[in-house]
Amino acid sequence: MRTYSAILVSGGAGFIGSNFIRYLLGPESGFQGLVVNVDALSYAGNLDNLSDLAAGLGGTRYFFERADICDRAAVEDIVARYRIDAVCHLAAESHVDRSIMGPEAFVRTNVLGTFTLLDVVRQAWRGRDGVWFHQVSTDEVYGTLGPSGSFSEASPYAPRSPYSASKAAADHLVMAYHHSYGLPVSVSNCGNNYGPRQFPEKLVPLMILNMLEGKRLPVYGDGRQVRDWLYVDDHARAVWAIMRGGRPGHSYVVGGGNERENLSLVERLADIVAEETGAGAELYRGLITLVPDRPGHDRRYALDSGKIRRELGWEPRMEFDRGLRETVRWYLDNPAWIERVRSGEYRRWLDSNYGWRQGGKA
Ligand code: NAD
Ligand code: DAU
Repeated sequence: MRTYSAILVSGGAGFIGSNFIRYLLGPESGFQGLVVNVDALSYAGNLDNLSDLAAGLGGTRYFFERADICDRAAVEDIVARYRIDAVCHLAAESHVDRSIMGPEAFVRTNVLGTFTLLDVVRQAWRGRDGVWFHQVSTDEVYGTLGPSGSFSEASPYAPRSPYSASKAAADHLVMAYHHSYGLPVSVSNCGNNYGPRQFPEKLVPLMILNMLEGKRLPVYGDGRQVRDWLYVDDHARAVWAIMRGGRPGHSYVVGGGNERENLSLVERLADIVAEETGAGAELYRGLITLVPDRPGHDRRYALDSGKIRRELGWEPRMEFDRGLRETVRWYLDNPAWIERVRSGEYRRWLDSNYGWRQGGKA
């Protein structure tokens, strides 16, 4: 098993990055070194996600550096100053809807930013052993599925949104740096994550927060699109398993095995929120509103995680319904977190109603 002394986590103030850092510095990972969280603090970056941990370990095992991964000089300085020997790369523009409304930021951060990180470590790590670059990617690079079948590492890349195209380009760069320069790399292609600290533009937290505010629940198209859901802590364990034992130059598909149609997921969430708040489920179910579909909306994702299960012994632990309930409880228990993220940019974005959603019947 590989281990490292100083891991740079890019995008550590975001949803998955913050949960990954919490896992890495928690008791289960066995990691003894230090973590440097490099994050530009875009609208999705939130230091509240790590404030308790920063208070305990800040300046000893946890360090935060506000930097844009496209800023080569800043990244070079951080890699040298902390003697970084591993990168877990999560920083990205991550929301498909935003990529349709404004693709340029996605190309910049996801493609140019990944290139910059890769190129800095390629030079800094020349002649050095025991180093590793892990790219956290998505199942969306494989495109969309019909009613049957699932994605595996052998599936061809066929991205269909500016977001997934930019992630696909980044994955190709990562693999190219392995083949051309011998950089030890791995890629994980994960399904939809859910859990605490997810920015409420994504389906699960958006629906929970809208229910609590009595707002309509906008379900795109016919609501029959299928996503394969994974609890964020299970994802963190998968990424760490790959960084420690994955094969260089390999990718690993990571799925929770929880395929659900969007509409039935939102209905289940309505029931759970009702149970947790003591309200009647019909109150929330009645807010469900079919709105015009996302352009180019991928119909179905499903993942075959056989490779990571066989090679690294990973498997998801969180049962889906329990994970949903824990997620609902986390949002109910953290009103101050919600209040802070729902200010400014967030509200402007949702209030704009992203063009194609305007035709919904409330
Ligand atoms: P997120 O949007 O919650 O967080 C992204 C983080 O990156 C934020 O903290 C943001 O400030 C930071 N960031 C953005 N641009 C940056 C830049 N130029 N320089 C430095 N930092 C920057 O995203 P997430 O949902 O936590 O996703 C993290 C990663 O996991 C992404 O690479 C995403 O593609 C991938 N992924 C996400 C999911 C999911 O369901 N959320 C599933 C599979 C893969
Ligand atoms: O599959 C992994 C991907 O999952 C990640 O790579 C992305 O970073 C992450 O954002 C997520 O992408 P999705 O587009 O699948 O997630 P989102 O939460 O935006 O939407 C989930 C499904 O719900 C999708 O079919 C669109 C639908 N949806 C979403 C929103 C925000 C709605 O019906 N209504 C909504 O308001």
